[in-house]
Amino acid sequence: QRQAIILGIESSCDESAAAVYDGERGLIAHALHSQVALHADYGGVVPELASRDHIRKLTPLIERVLAEAGQPALTGIAYTRGPGLVGALLVGASIAAGLGMSRGLPVLGVHHMEGHLLSPLLEPAPPAFPFVALLVSGGHTLLVRVDGVGRYTPLGQSLDDAVGEAFDKSAKMLGLGYPGGPALARLAESGCADAHDFPRPMVRRPGLDFSFSGLKTAVMLAIKAAPDTTAARADIAASFEQAVADTLVAKCARALDQTGIGRLVVAGGVGANRRLRAALESRAARDGFDLYFPRAEFCTDNAAMIALVGWLRRTDMAPGIAPAEAVARWPL
Ligand code: KG4
Ligand code: ZN
Repeated sequence: QRQAIILGIESSCDESAAAVYDGERGLIAHALHSQVALHADYGGVVPELASRDHIRKLTPLIERVLAEAGQPALTGIAYTRGPGLVGALLVGASIAAGLGMSRGLPVLGVHHMEGHLLSPLLEPAPPAFPFVALLVSGGHTLLVRVDGVGRYTPLGQSLDDAVGEAFDKSAKMLGLGYPGGPALARLAESGCADAHDFPRPMVRRPGLDFSFSGLKTAVMLAIKAAPDTTAARADIAASFEQAVADTLVAKCARALDQTGIGRLVVAGGVGANRRLRAALESRAARDGFDLYFPRAEFCTDNAAMIALVGWLRRTDMAPGIAPAEAVARWPL
């Protein structure tokens, strides 16, 4: 039955978000509060502050999306069960469990990365199965073969830093604030991408795994050797971005080649990066594969993707009182 209407709740890190997904009308409301300003002074997410802010913001966000959706007759609630900051997750889980109990609705804990993986299905021309997905966020760098909902085969992953982490750490070394990825991307706009020939880690080696710690070291050495000017830092930022983009593009092309699949989905916060998008688009045009991105606001954390997964997994929702579960680590 398509008629399910799902409330989605996301609180795995530093965004509080709520959304309503209706099987017949699609996404009918979504709202988000970013904690970026709250954590900015600390140079990164402070878990305790994150949890407390989720407590303050989530309930009003949920009320807002339900009002915007016209107080729909919900049939279930989906919340992010993990992976993420356990205290932050527990806030969303508790609210979901409480709401489920008081409204007599089934509750489902969903995987945050499954949300990212399936987020392009929120768009008007979604990819058909099977597709290959590149998940690039602050915590993950993952290539996955997706044959359907719940049918995921990991193809490759980062052996050390996640690509978002490499962006954030490089941004810090360049003297930029948190969050580093978007700040580095802004600085890179005025830089020259072939000023530095940074390593394209593991591109020449077979396989689909990634490694970004060597690139990070190369950035550190370049910063030490360069003059302390904005122009010099912009060149480093642009060259770093290009090295990341080239590496990701090479591995994606290899994954498509090995699987014989002609559809690539790119999701997760780093998917918002313009240079990466441009590099993927030109490779897609050259190799003739189809490329799918969620819209920019659904590349980063959001509840629309969680509500969507809740709807896709509506038959997994069991009636009865659900426990509030939060898991820091959870393999896909
Ligand atoms: O998916 P996401 O919002 O959160 C999780 O980690 O789950 O991803 C956040 C990551 C951060 O590392 C951030 O610096 C990076 O995505 N990011 C970017 C851009 N926007 C966000 N990195 C590069 N360029 C961007 N435009
Ligand atoms: Zn995320």
